[in-house]
This record gives sequence, C-alpha cells and structure tokens, in this order.
Amino acid sequence: MKYVIAVIQPDRLDEVLERLTEAKIHLVTVSNALGRGRQKGISEVYRSHKETGSLLKKVKLEIGINDDYVQPALDAIVGGAQSGQIGDGKIFVVDLTECVRISSGETGDTAIG
Ligand SMILES: Nc1ncnc2c1ncn2[C@@H]1O[C@H](COP(=O)(O)OP(=O)(O)OP(=O)(O)O)[C@@H](O)[C@H]1O
Ligand SMILES: [Mg+2]
Repeated sequence: MKYVIAVIQPDRLDEVLERLTEAKIHLVTVSNALGRGRQKGISEVYRSHKETGSLLKKVKLEIGINDDYVQPALDAIVGGAQSGQIGDGKIFVVDLTECVRISSGETGDTAIG
C-alpha cells in the first residue's frame, strides 16, 4: 500500500478528480493548503493573485491506495494538473504500513479500497 500526497493548483481540482474517477479511484481526502516551492511563493503570483505572505493557495490531495493503482493515480493527477508552467505542483508517494476501516475493524488492503 502507498499513500499518495499531491499538491496542485486549486483550479485543477475538478479535472484531477474527474480523471481519478475515470481510473476508478474514488477515495480521497482534499484540503486547502498554503505552500511554497522553488520560487519561494513569489514568481507565480501572476497565476494566482491570492498571495498570503510568501505562501500561495494550493489544494492537497491524499490517497491511500493499493500498489496496482499507484501509477494510474499518478497519471490522473499529472494529466489533470499539468499546465507546463511553474507552480503546477508536486506528488509524493510514501509507503503505507497499515489502514483500518473503523466501522468494521477491517485492516490492510481490504480496508483501503
Ligand atoms: N519539497 C517539498 N516539500 C513539501 N512541499 C512541497 C515541496 N515542493 C513543493 N511543495 C508544495 O508544492 C507546492 C507547489 O510546488 P511547485 O509546483 O511550485 O514546486 P517547484 O519545486 O517550485 O516546481 P516549479 O519550479 O515547477 O514551480 C508548493 O507550494 C508546496 O506547497
Ligand atoms: Mg514553484
């Protein structure tokens, strides 16, 4: 199992969610986030005039996922969020050691999907 964390431009969220759904990836956590990348939050202000200090508004997606779905998830996120400009975002993939569905007590790859 992996935990996929993606930081994207807010205006790309709908397209990313649509592509994830097409890849049969439905379970996701979405949060509003503030962040800065290599440009330290400065140079992409022209793309988003919602600057807060040196931090820019982003959307964070988190997806706990079985290994077979990791590549489809990455393809969906890149496909939906890439404009080719700075500030498009970044995806992190980390090993996930456990998942528990609280309602049933199921664990592991039964609980995650
Ligand atoms: N190494 C990192 N650790 C944690 N968060 C990061 C990291 N890199 C990027 N982010 C998050 O992703 C957001 C978007 O990053 P961004 O796309 O600007 O990355 P970048 O490395 O600056 O690439 P680019 O040069 O294409 O802009 C940042 O605002 C920040 O929230
Ligand atoms: Mg950047």
